Amino acid sequence: MLAEIDRTRLPRHVAAIMDGNGRWAAARGLTRIEGHAAGVESVRDTVEGAARLGLGALTVFAFSSENWRRPPGEVAALLELVGRYLRQETDNLVANDIRFRAIGRLGELPTDLQAGLGRTTEATKACRGLTLSVAVNYGSRAEIVDAVRRIAARAAREGKAPELDERRFGEYLTTSGLPDPDLLIRTSGEMRVSNFLLFQSAHTEFWTTLTLWPDFRQRDLYEAILAYQRRGRRSGGPG
Ligand code: IPE
Ligand code: IPE
Ligand code: MG
Repeated sequence: MLAEIDRTRLPRHVAAIMDGNGRWAAARGLTRIEGHAAGVESVRDTVEGAARLGLGALTVFAFSSENWRRPPGEVAALLELVGRYLRQETDNLVANDIRFRAIGRLGELPTDLQAGLGRTTEATKACRGLTLSVAVNYGSRAEIVDAVRRIAARAAREGKAPELDERRFGEYLTTSGLPDPDLLIRTSGEMRVSNFLLFQSAHTEFWTTLTLWPDFRQRDLYEAILAYQRRGRRSGGPG
């Protein structure tokens, strides 16, 4: 399948809503937490596939600002899995020239996780291959509000509002410097955007699959990219 992909027309940025861990676990008589643990292997495989293909940017939704509503044990397990991923994968990211960044309200996370995110960001800052962004405690509306607050604070400091247009506004978002996602994948068949990259996905192609996240592998990423390449994008222009 890799050979069928047109490398000259890759999406510049692929985003993924990793969904269905709970249902995957329930179908096997496992706990939801075991489902999340299985999902980490899908992240590893997908990141490797993205790097192998030569993608510029991959952003994955690991923990939403709404996910705090889950039982405390599940919340703790999800955040712990992010920390473990960082401890286990940082050397591998560096070896594969993958630059890591975290997006979301990171200051509200447990301090050891903040430190882990900071260490991996720092360790990979000179990498120039794939940019892997992991969204943790991320909510797009909060991100937009935070951007407006920073603009207002700057206006107050400088005595005038900064010049703004859509591109400049994007520089106040946590995805600053990344192209908008060309392709957004959601697993498990759900058709919701769940407060992910609302501003950034204005012209994004959506692709959903019934596959549950713990079953998602490189071949599924490639299938999504092939589907993307078969579509005719318009962005409001003529067909
Ligand atoms: C995705 O799987 C992981 C996170 C949202 C953190 P879910 O836990 O949402 O799994 P389902 O949707 O209940 O199957
Ligand atoms: C979206 O999945 C958030 C992440 C994948 C981290 P959810 O399962 O939490 O979203 P809803 O509840 O279906 O909107
Ligand atoms: Mg879900």
